[in-house]
Amino acid sequence: VGLQAQSLVLKADAMLDVHSGKLIANPLVVIKDNRILQIGSQNQLSIPEDAKVLELKGQTLLPGLMDMHVHLNSDARLHGYKRLAQSLPRKTLTGVSNARKTIETGFTTVRNVGAPGYADIALRDAIAEGELIGPRIFAAGMSLGITGGHCDNNLLPYEYQDKSAAAADGPWQVREKVRMNVKYGADWIKFCATGGVLSKGTKVGAQQYSQQEMDALVDEASLRGIGVAAHAHGLSGIKAAIRAGVTSVEHASFLDEEAINLALEKGTYLSMDIYTTEYILGEGEKAGILEESLAKERLVGSKQRESFSSAVKAGVKMVFGSDAGVYPHGQNARQFSRMVKFGMTPLQAIQAATINSATMLGERDNLGSLEQGKLADIIAVPGNPLENISLLEQVSWVFKEGQLITRP
Ligand code: ARG
Repeated sequence: VGLQAQSLVLKADAMLDVHSGKLIANPLVVIKDNRILQIGSQNQLSIPEDAKVLELKGQTLLPGLMDMHVHLNSDARLHGYKRLAQSLPRKTLTGVSNARKTIETGFTTVRNVGAPGYADIALRDAIAEGELIGPRIFAAGMSLGITGGHCDNNLLPYEYQDKSAAAADGPWQVREKVRMNVKYGADWIKFCATGGVLSKGTKVGAQQYSQQEMDALVDEASLRGIGVAAHAHGLSGIKAAIRAGVTSVEHASFLDEEAINLALEKGTYLSMDIYTTEYILGEGEKAGILEESLAKERLVGSKQRESFSSAVKAGVKMVFGSDAGVYPHGQNARQFSRMVKFGMTPLQAIQAATINSATMLGERDNLGSLEQGKLADIIAVPGNPLENISLLEQVSWVFKEGQLITRP
């Protein structure tokens, strides 16, 4: 045996095939190094001699969950002017604990769509190098946006000269900021195509960036071989972003039939954070969310849920995106039950957070389902999540690349 890595065998009561929705009884998974070597039922497969065997009694195995819209460096207790007082190093440290909360609750992969000062890139690399425990991160670096838009810093008056380093106006400035993000390690681009709820002085319905600027942004990102996520609530911004060819539209609150058809035509993913509204309207004021933002949320939240139902019905491609960071990290999974309440089957909600997200990231060969050869990102829940989707809020075991992260 010596220094050679032992294989790890997991046995459980059931395992979900996220493609078909079938539950396989009495599964057995053989993990060697960081990948699934063999997978099937206990009466078909034999256990390698040197294996360490873990029996996950009463548990159902699923692929590690994936959240395509998080802000690990954001603290949900600090919004508005409260957040202004927090330094970049402090935000970096909060990212360390948030990464841990995220993986311990079953999310083994996230896309971080916007962070100050490339704190997300540092976090991604520290986790990848094994220095910290956390999910695998696909990181967007600093979010691009127009001067004074949702992705700029708008809380302070002119004399403070506070402007996001990734604010950009005009096609060539936009291209330059894409290049800057790539230079500092971004593997995605995030930009704001409309106003937002939580930014001061922006209209959620109003488009930010012209079609020409969005086209330049997406073109530049595709030259560099990376995908683009567009924050967009308002209709014209959503349509312009889809026409420009973004990979995903975030929030997608005000959809109409034309927007839905455009998304279907272009194969655009929607990443709709339909849980967040409950936190913003419930806890937001205490956390410092501005009154104008609360007023915007009262308009957006219910409309977004209607749009979600229509998009699901029409068969638009959907990924799971929570916007954790606006609400507390570790509570990402609360969104699953809302996705079911507003029109998905439990299987569709699970697919959004597994195989669809893996496909959008271009990681279908490695992630998103429990299959031979894929990375051993595996979670277990105590029962059948197709019958009770809220079980995903009670993840009891987590493995990332075959490493045990959490157990009951
Ligand atoms: N970050 C987003 C914004 O400020 C949060 C929107 C949350 N509200 C919602 N209904 N999804 O625009």
